[in-house]
Amino acid sequence: MENFTYYNPTKLIFGKGQVEQLAKEISPYGKKVLLVYGGGSIKRNGLYDQVVNELMSNGIEYFELSGVEPNPRLTTVQRGVEICKQEEIDFLLAVGGGSVIDCTKAISVGAKYDGNPWDIVTKKYTPTEAIPFGTVLTLAATGSEMNSGSVITNWETKEKHGWGSPLVFPKFSILDPVNTFTVPKDQTIYGIVDMMSHVFEQYFHHTKNSPLQDRFCESTLKTVIEAGPKLVNDLENYELRETILYAGTIALNGQLQMGYRGDWATHNIEHAVSAVYDIPHGGGLAILFPNWMKHTLKENVDRFVQMAVNVFDVEPNGKDKEAIALEGIEKLRQFWDSIGAPSRLKDYDIGEENIELMADKAMVNGDFGNFKKLNREDVLAILNASL
Ligand code: NZQ
Ligand code: ZN
Repeated sequence: MENFTYYNPTKLIFGKGQVEQLAKEISPYGKKVLLVYGGGSIKRNGLYDQVVNELMSNGIEYFELSGVEPNPRLTTVQRGVEICKQEEIDFLLAVGGGSVIDCTKAISVGAKYDGNPWDIVTKKYTPTEAIPFGTVLTLAATGSEMNSGSVITNWETKEKHGWGSPLVFPKFSILDPVNTFTVPKDQTIYGIVDMMSHVFEQYFHHTKNSPLQDRFCESTLKTVIEAGPKLVNDLENYELRETILYAGTIALNGQLQMGYRGDWATHNIEHAVSAVYDIPHGGGLAILFPNWMKHTLKENVDRFVQMAVNVFDVEPNGKDKEAIALEGIEKLRQFWDSIGAPSRLKDYDIGEENIELMADKAMVNGDFGNFKKLNREDVLAILNASL
């Protein structure tokens, strides 16, 4: 293992009916709240009414920022910052999926900065202050509810970048599996792919001696592989929603990444694809990840053998290492196909016309990836294999 420091101050409030805790959790921070949400799913499923009742019955004044897009945009962050400055907001409340939470994170630091919030996303400015915020999560996928990362898209320049700051850990996150019952089948699938991809990004490293971390990763993957297909066919099953919701948080709250650095190259390529085409993040990952795996296999074939055997139950006897590794990758592809995830860029009508542009977007900060450093040719090879 490498030396590490683990810090995660987010209070996780998990289970049925926990929205009732909302006012109590907000009260230490003030009485003027900006409620941030997306395109209306929370109005359709009744969560909006519950949240607003909680606020009103406890004398909390609230303003609203609605319409946060999937792949949240800088312009929406700027709208939120305006409201915070004008109304002197004390606290932000994100009610939604990863996009709403990520947008809220950018507003929280953007509101304490006089320049363009894009400077924070592009790391030209390091934030020093933030408006505190909490979340009510409605979609199991990103882990944003319990981490300090955020991903924002500048649609004008077609750039999508991740950024992070210890200032943007949520103060609390309320996770009630019931609030995820209405997530449609496709978004449920994307969420499953995303959380599995987060584990893969962390699992592929060269650091020696991570037996406990490996087993945490493998058991998270096995749990999702077991529950995911059942959930896709039974969207209102409380126990399956509960399992997947918890797995999504564990997959990216730092717990799996103690003592080594993850790779994160596939996420970088996916962000480049969705910056140009605005496709769902999990859909992009389902296409790219098996191709990244095949491309980087030779870097450390033993890791892939371990995944094949321990996660996908590949029988290793009588086979060479590369064959075992490839069988594991094929089993991953088959698993994602079986739940209905996309497997080719052409599933989103993406052909080769913008391959070079997507590679440029991915390369904006130079070579990347910790398991294998990818250069532009590597990125092009992975994108071409994904067409
Ligand atoms: O906007 P509404 O109407 O709420 O609808 C959303 C949206 O259309 C809908 N939805 C959410 N909860 C629902 C629901 N529909 C019915 N019932 C519910 N309970 O689902 C759609 C997708 O929502 P979104 O928030 O975009 O999905 P997700 O949570 O997958 O977030 C994706 C974003 O997070 C970023 C991605 O790049 C992408 O921009 N990521 C953030 C990370 C982080 N902060 O740590 C890490 C990830 O790797 C990822 O990159
Ligand atoms: Zn992701």
